[in-house]
Amino acid sequence: MGRDLLAWYDANKRDLPWRGTDDPYAVWVSEVMLQQTQVATVLPYYERWMARFPTLESLSEAEVDRALEVWQGLGYYRRCRHMLEAARLLATRGIPNDRDGWLKVPGVGRYTASAIASICFGEAVGVADGNVQRVFARMAGCPDSGAELAQKAQDWADHHVDPKRPGDWNQAVMELGATVCKPKAPECGRCPLEPECVARQTWAVERYPARRHKPRSVAVFRSAWAPFLDGRFGLRRTPEGQWSAGLWEFPYLDLADGESPNLEALQNACAAASLESLGDFKHSVTHHRIRVEAWLARVEAKSGELEWFTPKDCAALPMASAQRRILKRACRLLGIEIDRG
Ligand code: ADE
Repeated sequence: MGRDLLAWYDANKRDLPWRGTDDPYAVWVSEVMLQQTQVATVLPYYERWMARFPTLESLSEAEVDRALEVWQGLGYYRRCRHMLEAARLLATRGIPNDRDGWLKVPGVGRYTASAIASICFGEAVGVADGNVQRVFARMAGCPDSGAELAQKAQDWADHHVDPKRPGDWNQAVMELGATVCKPKAPECGRCPLEPECVARQTWAVERYPARRHKPRSVAVFRSAWAPFLDGRFGLRRTPEGQWSAGLWEFPYLDLADGESPNLEALQNACAAASLESLGDFKHSVTHHRIRVEAWLARVEAKSGELEWFTPKDCAALPMASAQRRILKRACRLLGIEIDRG
């Protein structure tokens, strides 16, 4: 199996910017960005990041806002803050050269540690991300899902990884999962593992892996406002413990399930002389479906809980995409042009 798979990879692998290097810093950046995120989404972020922070040293000296600025839009911002924390540690301690060493680095789990160790240091350890789990489940006809499937896929990868080319073998399985053994409409005719695939032999490829019981998504209704006074917007840092901690956000109120938006409560919360609607929009974070109703709040005094920025300064602050949409709509309503994206 190993030989067919590696031959397929040599002939079919995508030309990705982190594939031409065994620089552990570059591979680390790519693998962290690729956690929960597809290659096509990662590509422009990776290029910008490496242009801005080409080495571990350059990242270790960066301010958190400069790093978040490049990361914004990619989501799961904890990854970025961990990378910065880790870069500062590694700049003094040195870069680990095996999986166990990488496992001690903040934000690096078994998957990322194994990927870096196999790609950069030739350590024969398997990587089992979601793509690998799917390839394994189909190949072996494994009926499990969730943690059981993850463990079995990990054992399978550890057992089968090619000791001569472990990094390529791991990337080959991931690549096969991403481009051929896709969740829907897999292209079995192009698959080097087709002759051995149990799911294929039973004509049930798309039934694997078995569906995991997903947490039901939760609807959240939120009223957010952009406080505006003397040409400046008021924003705050998202507190620790929230998914976009450390980024800048406009204040908001969450409404309880079934509660309808109450303009009076909103007016009290933001102490605005006037509220003008910026419309509403939807976005999702993990299993939350969030509907945001946004307002421009012309206030008469500066609340001490906020920091105040000109629209131009706001454009350079790290913000999650939903917050940037509020900023853009507020600027449009105010007839202000901001130059960034
Ligand atoms: N997903 C995560 N890491 C990857 C890699 N190195 N190659 C392909 N897909 C990946």
